[in-house]
Amino acid sequence: MQRMSHIKHPLVIANWKMNPVTLAEAKTILVGIKTAVKKFPQVIVVVAPPFLYITELKKLVAKSSLALGAQNTHTDVKGAYTGEHSVSQLQEAGVTYVIVGHSERRAMGETDELIASKVAAIIKGKLTAIVCVGEKSRDTQGNFYTLIENQIKVALCEVQKSRLKEVIIAYEPIWAIGTGATATVADVVEMQLFIKKVLTKLYDRTIARSVRVVYGGSVNAENAVELFAGTGVDGFLVGGASLKPVDFGKIVSAVN
Ligand code: PGA
Repeated sequence: MQRMSHIKHPLVIANWKMNPVTLAEAKTILVGIKTAVKKFPQVIVVVAPPFLYITELKKLVAKSSLALGAQNTHTDVKGAYTGEHSVSQLQEAGVTYVIVGHSERRAMGETDELIASKVAAIIKGKLTAIVCVGEKSRDTQGNFYTLIENQIKVALCEVQKSRLKEVIIAYEPIWAIGTGATATVADVVEMQLFIKKVLTKLYDRTIARSVRVVYGGSVNAENAVELFAGTGVDGFLVGGASLKPVDFGKIVSAVN
């Protein structure tokens, strides 16, 4: 199948979630990833570790093509928000990408409106927002498309056209996250086209073409080639397999 993307540099994001348990392990995994992706400098590789490790890992990321990501942010720059981190603090720590609206955070109570404020804060802070959208389950009437459209519409409601290049949409069907049940190539093709249609409606066709759409949900070393070559996605958001440098390297090689 002919790939449909207009994007030059594919992107693979490692979402480590609340892993690993120690900084020493985090360093080992990062060094492993650095080695595994060295041959693919044209692929943008973002590693999003737990906050605590970011500053230390920044030293290891220096002089490599890896970028650092955060898994969440607060909407304000500073203030009395116990347990939170701001975009400015993330930027200071060396972060350039922020994952926002991940389904695991939505499950903790994040609303579309809060996600919209976070996206606005990320863009204002001149970082790139990786906006996660995805349905819990699929129905035969296709109502899940309306849900995805709404998630995108609300998340981007404060983003001006000129700033859309700082947004990446990650389509992550919840039923495929951490389950081993990947979406099919056809599912991903259709959803990628749908997302571009939504962006065309909200902005215009040129903008829609330029916004990167990645897929996430049980991407692994075995299915990455098919999922990338057969669909129009611009890369992947990887959870479990991003903690295994060799497997992660294979995923990056698949989008190369
Ligand atoms: P998974 O997670 O690759 O382990 O399914 C993806 C994600 O939650 O971003």
